[in-house]
Amino acid sequence: MKKLLIVYHSQGGGTRKMADAVLAGAQEETGVETRMRPALEADVEDLLGTDAVIFGTPENFGYMSGALKDFFDRTFYPAQGKVDQLPYALFVKCSNDGSGAVFNIERIAKGYPLRRVAEPVVHQGDVDQTILDRCHELGHTLAAGLALGIF
Ligand SMILES: Cc1cc2nc3c(=O)[nH]c(=O)nc-3n(C[C@H](O)[C@H](O)[C@H](O)COP(=O)(O)O)c2cc1C
Repeated sequence: MKKLLIVYHSQGGGTRKMADAVLAGAQEETGVETRMRPALEADVEDLLGTDAVIFGTPENFGYMSGALKDFFDRTFYPAQGKVDQLPYALFVKCSNDGSGAVFNIERIAKGYPLRRVAEPVVHQGDVDQTILDRCHELGHTLAAGLALGIF
């Protein structure tokens, strides 16, 4: 069975709501096993053991959260060369921007190197049903792509 990993961080709960919707969307695909891990608990074994990964983070100070950066710091050298072209996607929760988080996640991902397979989902402001639906779709898209062997 194909495996999908969601690695996220949330301080105030907004990104967590988005992550839950991504997970629900992914779990609609029965042929894929999806796991969700907080960034501070996720490790290189999680990354090496998955067929695709979705990163979720708030934008903090024009960057990703320190927790997601810590995940990249801890896994970069151990995973480098072992996850070549692993499909990934990302979602970002922010107040008014989000571009710094997206830019820097994409820059780091190129180093592993991972392969982005969906447009980033960026949401400014309160979590509403529209963004939850987009997150649900993101999770389902990744899982369906794995199940169908598209990625
Ligand atoms: C320390 C800190 C820095 C932040 N920096 C930014 C920022 O650079 N750009 C932005 O749009 N929002 C910024 N925000 C707002 C958060 O991205 C926003 O509140 C987000 O919804 C938090 O997600 P969470 O509820 O999952 O923790 C910042 C919030 C905090 C606490």
